[in-house]
Amino acid sequence: MKAIGKNFKSALLLFFALLLPCAILMVAWDAHAADSKLIEKGKKVYESRCIICHGPKGDGKGLIGIVNRAQIRGSVQTIYPRDFTTGVFRFRTTPTGCLPTDENLLRVVTNGIPRSYMPSHEDVSMEERKAVIEYVKTFSPRWKEEEACKPIPVKKPAWVGTPESIAKGKKIYREMKCWECHGEQGKGDGPKSDTLKDDWGDKIIPFDFTTGATKMGFAPENVYTAYTTGLDGSGMPSFEDSMSEEERWHLVSYTLVLMGRIKE
Ligand code: HEC
Ligand code: HEC
Repeated sequence: MKAIGKNFKSALLLFFALLLPCAILMVAWDAHAADSKLIEKGKKVYESRCIICHGPKGDGKGLIGIVNRAQIRGSVQTIYPRDFTTGVFRFRTTPTGCLPTDENLLRVVTNGIPRSYMPSHEDVSMEERKAVIEYVKTFSPRWKEEEACKPIPVKKPAWVGTPESIAKGKKIYREMKCWECHGEQGKGDGPKSDTLKDDWGDKIIPFDFTTGATKMGFAPENVYTAYTTGLDGSGMPSFEDSMSEEERWHLVSYTLVLMGRIKE
């Protein structure tokens, strides 16, 4: 009797030992099926709404090609849709060099991007917007190899916008040579402004503060984020390492003056 009991126990153990990997496999397969369903759905949205600009390969070479060509101070600037194959994104709340969060991408897709002709997609359902984001991620291997980093903390000090903070920001603007690209008055016409190229070798014009049309958003918190994360791929650097948090907030104060939002 004892021997039978033992055999039965080992048989039972073996049964469960075999069942476990099967169960894990089934769960994994299910998740995979759900993922590919979402991506399939995203592909449909992409084909109807994004392909014309961002292209079938996600390299920004859609039918439209150049979305805008403008003469700015006699020099020609062209704007191309983003190339997703490099996995480099500009409007993030994550540190420079990092992938954006899903929320960052959702914001861009929902609101569009001012000053660049990337339209808003508020009319696309939330489910489809989330699906198209998953599809965009299939264009670069970075999304399989890396996790998105943690967003940077943003806590606006009460003194932002005070005359002392503005004066300090103005000094930093001079010392950090922001004017070399953005010009003394922030009109985007600094001595280096005509020679700048983005990571793809296309001409890029530094932001003209007087237009007020920041791409990250124009709340002080958005401007601070841009100074901390940098707009990767555009030539606008991150100042997380070269400036203290306090200095970046002083710079925000002066930015608000250059944008005409507050008086000096
Ligand atoms: C009319 C052309 C156009 C259409 C349509 C369009 N885009 Fe864009 N998109 C652009 C341009 C131009 C940029 C680059 C803007 C810039 O860098 O200033 C861009 C940038 C982006 C970015 C990069 C944001 C970043 O942080 O760098 C994402 C993501 C994006 N588009 C997703 C989409 C998705 C998804 C769709 C479809 C639902 C779509 N776009 C439709 C023109 C377009
Ligand atoms: C090497 C040239 C260069 C330097 C130096 C530079 N920038 Fe920029 N900056 C750019 C470019 C190019 C853009 C436009 C990026 C775009 O349109 O996608 C930009 C964009 C911006 C924007 C707009 C962000 C947005 O959300 O649209 C602000 C604000 C800004 N820069 C402030 C500064 C300040 C302040 C400094 C100095 C601490 C500075 N920049 C230094 C090239 C530069």
